[in-house]
Amino acid sequence: MHRPEAKFPLGRVANLAVFASGAGSNLQSLLAAFPHQSAADALGRVMLVVSDRPEAGALELARIASVPTLAQSFKPSRAHFEAVIQDALQQASIDLVLLAGFMRILSGSFTDAWRGRLLNIHPSLLPAHPGLHAVAAALQAGDFESGCTVHLVDAGVDTGPVLAQARVPIAQDDTEATLHARIRTAEHGLYPQTVRRLLEGAFETQRAFR
Ligand code: GRF
Repeated sequence: MHRPEAKFPLGRVANLAVFASGAGSNLQSLLAAFPHQSAADALGRVMLVVSDRPEAGALELARIASVPTLAQSFKPSRAHFEAVIQDALQQASIDLVLLAGFMRILSGSFTDAWRGRLLNIHPSLLPAHPGLHAVAAALQAGDFESGCTVHLVDAGVDTGPVLAQARVPIAQDDTEATLHARIRTAEHGLYPQTVRRLLEGAFETQRAFR
């Protein structure tokens, strides 16, 4: 299985892949920070966008930015999806995988192969409210604040080591839509900033698991 290099900074431009199932607003912020056509001395560039849903808005955004895309369904199986994706990641010499609204659970063998090189952004202050419906869960719990978390991915659901968080207040009249919009705005700053720090070598991403 494709195993990326062990340590950041790489001393060369890092090749990034983004996995997205939805609208892709986080992809958009990552593309703005790490453009596909970056110079060779840039920190990173998005080289591949993967989706499990051919109709995902994220794929259209990638095409507009002239980034290679791969739409691969989870049918017939997750194992097939992961084999196809691993091959594409290797072909594109990907160093770092960024989940950005990717709504599928990856297997332990995939997360192990990408240990320390696989990030996710989640719309809550983990460990509060992991999993689906995190924004609604914060409202239901009567929380006064919420936010977003960038974390390394392990075999669990939203359980890997936390790299960075941003907080947002919850207003009394917030709905899931208004709160999620506020969280998304925070995500668009936090995710590229955290990836930049990681590429610069700010985190010991392998040690973080111990
Ligand atoms: C974000 O809120 C992210 O935290 C969650 O899914 C949402 C994706 O939004 N994992 P977008 O597709 O990037 O707009």
